[in-house]
Amino acid sequence: MAIEVYLAQEKIQARIKELADEINKDFAGKELHVIGILNGAFMFTADLVRHLTIPVTLEFMAASSYGDGTVSSGELKINLDIKKDIEGKHVLIIEDIVDTGLTLKVLKKNLEERRPSSLKLASFLFKPARLEHPVDIDYLGFEIEDHFVIGYGLDYAGRYRELPYVGIYSPEGES
Ligand code: PRP
Repeated sequence: MAIEVYLAQEKIQARIKELADEINKDFAGKELHVIGILNGAFMFTADLVRHLTIPVTLEFMAASSYGDGTVSSGELKINLDIKKDIEGKHVLIIEDIVDTGLTLKVLKKNLEERRPSSLKLASFLFKPARLEHPVDIDYLGFEIEDHFVIGYGLDYAGRYRELPYVGIYSPEGES
């Protein structure tokens, strides 16, 4: 197994600080309810919120979309829901990656139906080469090429989420 560093830890942390500054500015004088999407976004969520200076409440949600990415009207499977009533609240979804866009499309629809005052999306990564369901990303960490990336929350068969950097995974030489 070989991992080539694609986004170094320092680069990631510098970008996250920039995103947090933007969010602090955009939500100045407001309260923000942050929803981190498990599993992949656990690290991005933790690093982003520690730079927020506005009042924040935080929950995690676990959801995945049905379908293979070619179905445009995917259904959402919620494995862990939030407890807070978000009606009238400013909500920020935090995701690790927008790939085909299906998960975020159906997740945003689900949360919009709960009538938040505003609903924004922060995604650590965006892979335009695979996009099938356009989704607005309000705060984007990095746009990436069509590589199989791992680390910083992203997994291969459940592994490598703990890496503090993003790597390109290639299985050659795996023992
Ligand atoms: C990943 C990621 C997004 C989704 C993006 O989650 O966290 O939720 O896939 O893909 P899409 O744009 O094609 O819908 P995954 O289902 O792999 O779960 P995980 O976060 O637990 O790794």
